[in-house]
Amino acid sequence: MTAGKTGIAVADVLEALNRISKGRMVMDWNEVTSGTNPYVVMKTSNIPGKSVIEIPGLVFGDKHKPVARVGVGMTLTESVIELASAMKLDLIVVHHPVADAASSGGVPFADYLPLYDLALIEMHEAFHGLHPGMTLLHGHRKLTTDICFGGIPGNVLHKGIALPEVQTAGDILARINRMMGRDIDVDLLEAERAIRGETTLQEATLANPAKLLSGGPDSPVKHVLHFFPHTGFSVGHLETALRMYPETDTIIASISRVREDHPFVALARERGLTFIVGNSHSVEIMENGLPLAYALELLLPGIEVFLLRERITAVPLKDIAHSRMVEYGKQMAETHLVSMPPRAVQTY
Ligand SMILES: [Fe+2]
Ligand SMILES: [Fe+2]
Repeated sequence: MTAGKTGIAVADVLEALNRISKGRMVMDWNEVTSGTNPYVVMKTSNIPGKSVIEIPGLVFGDKHKPVARVGVGMTLTESVIELASAMKLDLIVVHHPVADAASSGGVPFADYLPLYDLALIEMHEAFHGLHPGMTLLHGHRKLTTDICFGGIPGNVLHKGIALPEVQTAGDILARINRMMGRDIDVDLLEAERAIRGETTLQEATLANPAKLLSGGPDSPVKHVLHFFPHTGFSVGHLETALRMYPETDTIIASISRVREDHPFVALARERGLTFIVGNSHSVEIMENGLPLAYALELLLPGIEVFLLRERITAVPLKDIAHSRMVEYGKQMAETHLVSMPPRAVQTY
């Protein structure tokens, strides 16, 4: 399938992603309803109307549409859509599943994406377990991976062995900080605090550093179990995994994490095991997004690939320093939101 200046169309990107994922992509929409593609997965908390079916493939747009500029991101949001428009991207490839309106600023894709002539592809479970980067960044080499541990799709467990240069838990923490360029984020936050005049500003990645919840920096590391608590990994799963791999000395939880009082940590302490919480979900764009973006560039050298990277900060209201917007926010709140006037004509 070819079209346009580059001779590349959305269908070619889909083909490339199918090669990258070793045939896991939805190439024919019938796969969504027939149940033949195991990577078409329903994600639900059983809240009416809030579930989503992951469809690793073209979710919106025309297969024949020419493509010159592609953005690779983690999660689709209205900011991503607006940035993609400003950058004149033709196609957005996101890792996480999208949901109509939820991922597009409260309005249907069909009303929004055609404005900017954007096509949209999602991957998620179809991309998991394809490369060992997540484990390498955390200082071990995976020996086996189960992407469906306990029969739960997406519940990934890696069993790994420490890299030769990694001897202790402290080595893992130092490696993560070095690899992820934590110093850059520290400098960036310091600069932003100074520029904005907001000394209490926090940023997602820095607020969630890698840390030790059981064991010490000198605890030796050799045999590692690595999982992701948000994927449905339970204490029962951890007990099973420790029975399967009794040589385990170190447990790593990353992407999501648990707090110090979690039963995982209690179990690790009880057994004398080291427990590390590694990278948070906010750097998955580097862990998974960057390899995907480079893979696309390698397979389709004619296109320009952009990394769509978000940065989320938090600041207490009392410390917001830009006085004009503080005045604006307060005025709207006081005058229109909490003054409880009689029902009147809406003004914007
Ligand atoms: Fe992921
Ligand atoms: Fe994720």
